[in-house]
Amino acid sequence: MDNAIIDDAICFVKNIFEDDHSGHDYFHTLRVYNTATKIAIKENAHLLTVQLAALLHDVDDIKLSPQTHKYKDRAVSFLKEHGVSPEIIMTICDIISEISFKGTDTVVPKTIEGKCVQDADRLDAIGAIGIARAFAYGGNHNSVIHDPDIKPAVNMNADEYRNHVSTTLNHFYEKLFLLKDMMNTEAAKEIAQQRDEYMKAYIAEFLDEWDGVR
Ligand code: ADP
Ligand code: NI
Repeated sequence: MDNAIIDDAICFVKNIFEDDHSGHDYFHTLRVYNTATKIAIKENAHLLTVQLAALLHDVDDIKLSPQTHKYKDRAVSFLKEHGVSPEIIMTICDIISEISFKGTDTVVPKTIEGKCVQDADRLDAIGAIGIARAFAYGGNHNSVIHDPDIKPAVNMNADEYRNHVSTTLNHFYEKLFLLKDMMNTEAAKEIAQQRDEYMKAYIAEFLDEWDGVR
């Protein structure tokens, strides 16, 4: 049963995200699933809960599916149709609610399963892939790459973080450079360290080129 439900969940998210160009594409979900699985094995977390939460974490995202966001309708229908127990459905819904970065309103998930999925989602926002996703998101939302007159905002709450207008370069200071120290699990902290260094070296090079140093 377990493998069939995972295969179905992979098909389900593939259909939903195939045409997304906003940084929530199908391959993002697949990478989060793979990384969450690796972390969950090291942490002895409940694997099926982690895997289903990872695969379904973006299907009711407020930006992509505002009408289903509140009650996580798409995730819940999928899980009910596949006979998942009410307890596991509730745990998965909690994980999905807790996962996102929301500035100073960000939460630490209650369960180890949630911690694994949150770490995997965050790892996909940093490093080489994180850089690519940030600029893809910026292009998709008509943001400028960089404007030295627009300074990064700090200590934003969830509303401020969601509604403020900024540059893609500022996104590194407003979110991406903060993620390394927000990882929950030892396995993720180790991976984050290397990805964070890579991203910082990239931004240093970017700013040197911008300033005509190189
Ligand atoms: P998630 O739902 O995975 O927590 P988001 O929806 O906030 O994350 O972001 C999806 C991707 O788009 C991430 O890689 C993130 O860094 C990037 N992103 C989000 N907001 C911005 C922004 N203002 N500028 C550039 N990239 C962004
Ligand atoms: Ni995500």
